[in-house]
Amino acid sequence: MPAEEWLNAQHVDRYLDRADEFPRRTEGESVLLEHVPREVRRVLDLGTGDGRLLGLLRIDRPEMVGVGVDFSALMLKAALGRFAGEERIELVEHDLTEPLPLLGSFDAVVSSMAIHHLEHERKRSLYGEIFALLEPGGVFANFEHVASPTRRLHLAFFTAIAEPLENEDPSDRLLDVESQLAWLREHGFDDVDCYWKWLEMALLVGVQPCTARAQGIG
Ligand SMILES: C[S@@+](CC[C@H](N)C(=O)[O-])C[C@H]1O[C@@H](n2cnc3c(N)ncnc32)[C@H](O)[C@@H]1O
Repeated sequence: MPAEEWLNAQHVDRYLDRADEFPRRTEGESVLLEHVPREVRRVLDLGTGDGRLLGLLRIDRPEMVGVGVDFSALMLKAALGRFAGEERIELVEHDLTEPLPLLGSFDAVVSSMAIHHLEHERKRSLYGEIFALLEPGGVFANFEHVASPTRRLHLAFFTAIAEPLENEDPSDRLLDVESQLAWLREHGFDDVDCYWKWLEMALLVGVQPCTARAQGIG
């Protein structure tokens, strides 16, 4: 079972209790929010957890329809609590190690601190699936835990977040920013860059080219 700590109530509760305290998190999230247009109609959140990102997005986008995917029944229960009675939010139980189910197309795909739990080859293929389900002009914004270039910087990150290294998630499969940006470009994303970074936290963004731009017309 991949990332099975997320099926453990203690692990999930500890994460959710401390989620707001994660250093610089709101800064990175606010840059993500800036890059998701206010007029988006459908947004997909991969590894949604308790629906944190969908909750932030819908503040300024009350008309959007959000789909949150996660494989942890505990997390989905927490998300159900957050979105109780909200018809515009759909929660889907799905393991991201498997190809995405049929969900329709989206104006934005977002993710926060989730995709790094997947093996590198699955990250790569998932980025391709995301490209395929984005509408032209649609944005992919991944607020992610990435690898440090050196062991010393990795230790410095854990010191900065006041977390002992032994608490590192056993399922973390951290990957450097450059490899992930290269994959996004290979899949055809436009405007690919790291839009924000602090130590091992990074916001990776790519845009599905509009047809006219892809054909060199625009
Ligand atoms: C660090 S939490 C982040 C949750 C939420 N996105 C947030 O920002 O608070 C990681 C999430 O990824 C989910 N996750 C990890 N591996 C997964 C997989 N293979 N398929 C689906 N979800 C997965 C976990 O269940 C958990 O909800």
